[in-house]
Amino acid sequence: MKTGWTILALCSVMLGLATASPGQTRISVQVDQPGAAIRPTMWGVFFEDINFGADGGLYAELVKNRSFEFPDSIMGWSRILQSGSEGYIYVEKYPEKQTNAHFLRMKVGKTGRGFGISNGGFRGMGIREGKDYRFRVRARLTAGGPMTLRVELAGRGRRPLAETKLDRFTSQWQEYTAVLRAKSTEEKARLNLFVEGSGTLDLDMVSLFPVDTWKDREGGLRADLVQMLAEMKPGFLRFPGGCIVEGRTLDVRYQWKTTIGDPADRKLIVNRWNTEFNHRLTPDYYQSFGLGFYEYFLLSEDLGAEPMPIINCGMACQFNTGELAPMDELGPYVQDALDLIEFANGPADSGWGRKRAEMGHPEPFGLKLLGIGNEQWGPQYIERYKVFVKAIQDKYPDIQLIAGTGSDATIFPNGQQEIDYLWSQYRRLKADIVDEHFYRRPDWFLDNAHFYDNYERDGSEIFVGEYGAQSIGVASPDNRNNWHTALAEAAFMTGLERNADLVTMSCYAPLFCHVDGWQWRPDLIWFDNLRVFGTPNYYVQKLFSLNRGDRVLPVAVAEPATTPDGKPRFYASSVYDETSNEMILKVVNATGEPVRAIIQTRGAKTVGLQANVTVLASDDLNDENSFEAPRKIAPVESRVPVRSAEFRYDFRPYSMTIVRLMCQSQ
Ligand code: AHR
Repeated sequence: MKTGWTILALCSVMLGLATASPGQTRISVQVDQPGAAIRPTMWGVFFEDINFGADGGLYAELVKNRSFEFPDSIMGWSRILQSGSEGYIYVEKYPEKQTNAHFLRMKVGKTGRGFGISNGGFRGMGIREGKDYRFRVRARLTAGGPMTLRVELAGRGRRPLAETKLDRFTSQWQEYTAVLRAKSTEEKARLNLFVEGSGTLDLDMVSLFPVDTWKDREGGLRADLVQMLAEMKPGFLRFPGGCIVEGRTLDVRYQWKTTIGDPADRKLIVNRWNTEFNHRLTPDYYQSFGLGFYEYFLLSEDLGAEPMPIINCGMACQFNTGELAPMDELGPYVQDALDLIEFANGPADSGWGRKRAEMGHPEPFGLKLLGIGNEQWGPQYIERYKVFVKAIQDKYPDIQLIAGTGSDATIFPNGQQEIDYLWSQYRRLKADIVDEHFYRRPDWFLDNAHFYDNYERDGSEIFVGEYGAQSIGVASPDNRNNWHTALAEAAFMTGLERNADLVTMSCYAPLFCHVDGWQWRPDLIWFDNLRVFGTPNYYVQKLFSLNRGDRVLPVAVAEPATTPDGKPRFYASSVYDETSNEMILKVVNATGEPVRAIIQTRGAKTVGLQANVTVLASDDLNDENSFEAPRKIAPVESRVPVRSAEFRYDFRPYSMTIVRLMCQSQ
C-alpha cells in the first residue's frame, strides 16, 4: 500500500452510487480481470542522426569538421588574416592512413595583428558563463618556431569569452589540452585559434567539449539532452535509425565497426540527410561517429533501456537508389550482424568482446533485440532477411529479430498488396517481431485507435517502430508539433496499450531536432545550442512510459463522446500496476467539449480514497511548446477524492488524462 493512502473498504451498497445521466459517458474498468502482460519495452525511444541529432546535438563536440575529413576538407573553418599578417593554410594528407587521413598545415610568415583559423561549430557553439570547456588538439611544428597557439572563445562581435595559450610544440605529433572557463554565455560562439611566431604548425583533431557532459564522461554527450530521455524512462533505445542505416548507396551505409574504438580513427561518412530534402539542404552534415555503437550501448545501459540496434541487410534506401548487395556477396553483411552480437554479449576474451572490454566495458551489454534492415520491402528484402535469420538463429537463438515493412503499411509502393505479401511471408517464417511505421495526418491516428483490435494474432509480435502525426503531410517543412498531433498520437497509443498482447514495443520518430539544423519535422524534442524543450508529443510519450503498468485491464466506454459531425473522439485504456496496486486509466478526450464520465472500477473490493490525476490539455489544438514557453502544454498533477468504486470525473476538452487509483480485487 502506498504511504499516506487510506483504503476504503467497499460494500455492495456503495457500488453504483454514482449514476450516469443522459449525455454522460460511463467508463468501466474490469479491475479483477488483468489480461496481457505489458512488456518493459512497451514505450521506447528511436534515435537517429537526423536534424543534428548526434553531430551538433547529443554528441557534445562543439567543433565541426574537427579532423578535416569532410570531402571539402576546410568546410566549417575560415582563415583569420588580420592586418600585417602573412601566411596561408591548406589541408595535407598522410599517405599511409586510411581513416583520419587529413590534417591542417598553417604556414606563417608574420603574425601581424593576428593570423589563424576560426570554427563556427554546428550553427554556433553554445557556451555558458562560469562553465569549463576542454580544448584538445594534435599538433606538431614542422618548420621555424617557436610558435604559440592562442585559443580563444569569442561571442558576437568577437566579444572575448575565454582564452588560453598552448606552446612547446615539437616536430612529433602530440596532443595538447587546456580547459577554458567562460566569462559569459553565448549561444553562437566561435573558436578562434591564433598562431604566434613564424614557422609551420600542423593541427589535427581540434576539439572542444563542455567539461560537464552526461555522467561527466570526457568527450561525452550533452547532459541536458540525455536528461530529457532519462526522464522518459524508455523501455528500449532503437539506434542508429532510421534511413541512416541504409544509406543512399551501400557505400555510405551505416557500418557499426567503423564507429567504435578511438574516435579519431572512426571513418567519417556523409550523413544521408545532408541533401535529402531540397527544401532543407544541409551540405555540411557528416557523421563523425563520435557517437558510435559503443556509446549507444552505454547510453542504453544508462537509461535502463534495452539496446535495439538496427543493421543494414544488404539494401540501400529503397526511396533512393535501392542498391542491393548480390545474394552471393551478402556474407560480410551477415558477418557484421554476428560480430555485433559478439561485441555486445561476448565474453571479454572473445574477438569482438575484447574490443568492448578495451573500450571500458568488460561486462556484456545484454543485447536481446536486433533489427534486420530498416524500411525494407519486396521479395528482395525477404530473401535477404531469411539469410540473416538463419545465420543468427543458428548461432544466437535467444536474440529476437525484427523484420521491416517499409515506411507505411498501406501507402508505399504497391500499397496494401505489399503489406499482405510481407505478412504472408512473416507468418510462414514465424517472424519474431514485425516493425510497422505510421507517418499520417492527425485524423488518421484519431480514426485508427482500434487499428490493432482485430489484427491477426499468429505468434509474431508487433513493434510500432516509427510513428508521428504529420500536421500537413509526411516530412512537410510546415509540419508543427502542435497539440492536435500530440492528442491524436495519445488516442492511437491507447489502442497500442489495449493491444499490448500483440504490440510489445513502440516509439515516436524522429527524436531530436536542432532548431537551426533540421531536415525533418515534426520531432519529439527540440533544442538549440543552449536550451531544450519537450513538445506536447514528448509529454504524451513520457506519460505513457511513466504509467506503463504491468497488465492490461479490459475497459469499456459506453457511448463515447463524438465531434459535432458524429465522429467518436473519446478513447480509454487501462493497465494495472502490480507494485503500487493501482489501476491506471488513460483517457483521451479529443472533442472540444468537457465530458462528464462515471468511472466504474468493476470487481474492485477496495479502492483508495483519492486518485492521483495527471492532465495534459490545451483548449487550442494549434498550441505548441517553445523555448519561450517550454511548458505551455505540460502535465499538471492533482488529487481527486474518490468516494466509492464508482466515481465521477469531468474530462477537459482536448485533454489526455491519467487516473491512478489504488484498487484491489481480492
Ligand atoms: O524518422 C525519419 C525517417 O522516417 C526515418 O529515418 C525513416 O526510417 C522514416 O522514413
